Amino acid sequence: MSDKLIIFDTTMRDGEQSPGASMTRDEKLRIARQLERLKVDVIEAGFPAASNGDFEAVSAIAQVIKGSTVCALARANDRDISRAAEALKGAASGRLHMFLATSALHMEKKLRMSPDQVFEQARQAVRFARQFTDNIEFSPEDGSRSDPDFLARVLEAVIAEGATTINIPDTVGYGVPELFGQLVRSLRERIPNSDKAVWSVHCHNDLGMAVANSLAAVKIGGARQVECTINGLGERAGNTSLEEIVMACRTRRDYYDLDIGVDTSQIVPASKLVSQITGFLVQPNKAVVGANAFAHASGIHQDGVLKSRDTYEIMRAEDVGWNANKIVLGKLSGRNAFKQRLDELGIKLDSETEVNEAFVRFKELADRKSDIYDEDILAIVSEEEHSHDNEFYRFVSLSQRSETGERPHARIVFAEQGKERTSEGEGNGPVDATLNAVERAVASGAEMVLYSVNAITTGTQSQGEVTVRLAKGGRIVNGVGADPDIIVASAKAYLAALNKLHSKSERLNPQHGPAAA
Ligand code: KIV
Ligand code: ZN
Repeated sequence: MSDKLIIFDTTMRDGEQSPGASMTRDEKLRIARQLERLKVDVIEAGFPAASNGDFEAVSAIAQVIKGSTVCALARANDRDISRAAEALKGAASGRLHMFLATSALHMEKKLRMSPDQVFEQARQAVRFARQFTDNIEFSPEDGSRSDPDFLARVLEAVIAEGATTINIPDTVGYGVPELFGQLVRSLRERIPNSDKAVWSVHCHNDLGMAVANSLAAVKIGGARQVECTINGLGERAGNTSLEEIVMACRTRRDYYDLDIGVDTSQIVPASKLVSQITGFLVQPNKAVVGANAFAHASGIHQDGVLKSRDTYEIMRAEDVGWNANKIVLGKLSGRNAFKQRLDELGIKLDSETEVNEAFVRFKELADRKSDIYDEDILAIVSEEEHSHDNEFYRFVSLSQRSETGERPHARIVFAEQGKERTSEGEGNGPVDATLNAVERAVASGAEMVLYSVNAITTGTQSQGEVTVRLAKGGRIVNGVGADPDIIVASAKAYLAALNKLHSKSERLNPQHGPAAA
C-alpha cells in the first residue's frame, strides 16, 4: 500500500503575508470552502493573535469547514496559543501550529534568546498546547539554516511533549534539493522518537526551488506532509505551489508512489478564486494554472496533439479543472438560475438581500455583455462582498473624454460615506485622468506601487479586471475592480484600495516581531 502525502494549504496564512494580499473574513470563507471542495487535508486559516479580523476569520472557518482539518498558527507563547485555541473552538478537526526560530542568526538577532532558552520555550509551548488538543504541529523557524545538532535536540523534546507533526521550514528559500532532502532524512534517522510524528516541510521560493526542495524532502527525506499555497502565493517569492506538488506526485506516481486526497478538477477554480480575491495575477506560463499551460501554440505541437494527445501533453487540462470558458448565463437568465450557479460555484452569500443585490449587478452586466461566465460571477460576488465589508467610498459614475492630440479629461462621481462627490481631473491617458480626479478629491497621499489590467475571460467583450496596489505609512493594500469598461474598472479598483487603507485594520506579521513571552 502507498503512503499518503498530506496536503497542507497555507494560502490564507503564509499566502496572506504577501504585501497587499490581505483578505477579509468573507473572502477567507470563500477560499476555505473552495479548499474543502479541493479536498486538501489541512487548511491553515490564519494567525489569530495577529488581529481581531484574523481571529474572527479563523473562528468562522472553524465553524463551517467539516471536510478538512482547520489549523491556526501561534508563536510559541501562552497568549498566542490560547488565542489560537479559542479561535479553533467548535472545529470538527482542529490543529494548533506553533513555531519558534532555531537558527543561530534568528535566535541571536531576532529573538535575543540563548539556545537553552529557545529549547525551554519550545518545550513549554507544546506542553501548554496539549491542554487544548492532541493535534499539534511544531515548526523550528529557519530550520534549514539551523545547526542540525541543536535542531535534533529541540525536535526530540517537542515530540516527547506531544507534537504530532514536525515541520521543517526553509524560511528564506536557501535550501537546495539534495541537501534539504538529506537534512530531513538525517533528522528522522537520528531522533529516537521521530516515528511518533508526521514529518512535514514548508519551503519558500526565493531561488525558485520551493517545489523541488519539497519533493526532495518527500523522496529522500521521507516527509509525508507538504505545506503549500494556491498559485505559490506567499512571502517574497512565495511558497511551494500546491498545484505543482499535487500534479507532480500524480503525474509521476510511478516515481513518488504516494496517495493524494486532492480532487484535482478543483485546482483551476481555486487558482482563479485566489487570484481574483488577492489581485495577484497568475503568469501565463505558470505550470498547471497559467493560461498557456495547455495551449499548444506551435504548429508542430498542434499537429502532434491532434494525432495523439500524449505526444506533447503529460496531463489533461480537464483533469485540473480547465474547461473551455463556459458560458453559464445570459440576459434572459432568471434569479433561480443565477442562484443555482452561485450554489454550484460554492458561493454562499450571507442573506437573501445579498443574493438580490448580486442579482441586480448580474442583470446590469448582462445588459452590457451578452455572455456571462463563471469568472464574471466571481467578480460580481467580490464587489458585492466588498460593498458590505468596508465601503467608505463607492463608485457612482464616470464621464471621460480622450481624443488624439487632446489631453484626456475625466469627471467622476463617487460616494463618500453615502454622500455623493464630484471631481474632475486630467492626465496622460484616460486612466491617469480618472485616478487623478479621485485623488484630487480625497487627497490620500498614497503611492501607487502597482497598476495592472487583465481580461477576465477572452475577447474584447470581456470585463477588464484591474488591480491597484497602494502604499502608505508602511501599509500596502490591493484593490480590485471589474467592469467591461477598463477605465471604470480602474476607478473601482482605486476606490477599493482606498477603502482598505481607510479601514486601518492592522495585522501583525507573526515572523517579524520578537516572540512575545
Ligand atoms: O516560513 C516559515 O518559517 C513559516 C513558519 C511559521 C512555518 O512560515
Ligand atoms: Zn513561511
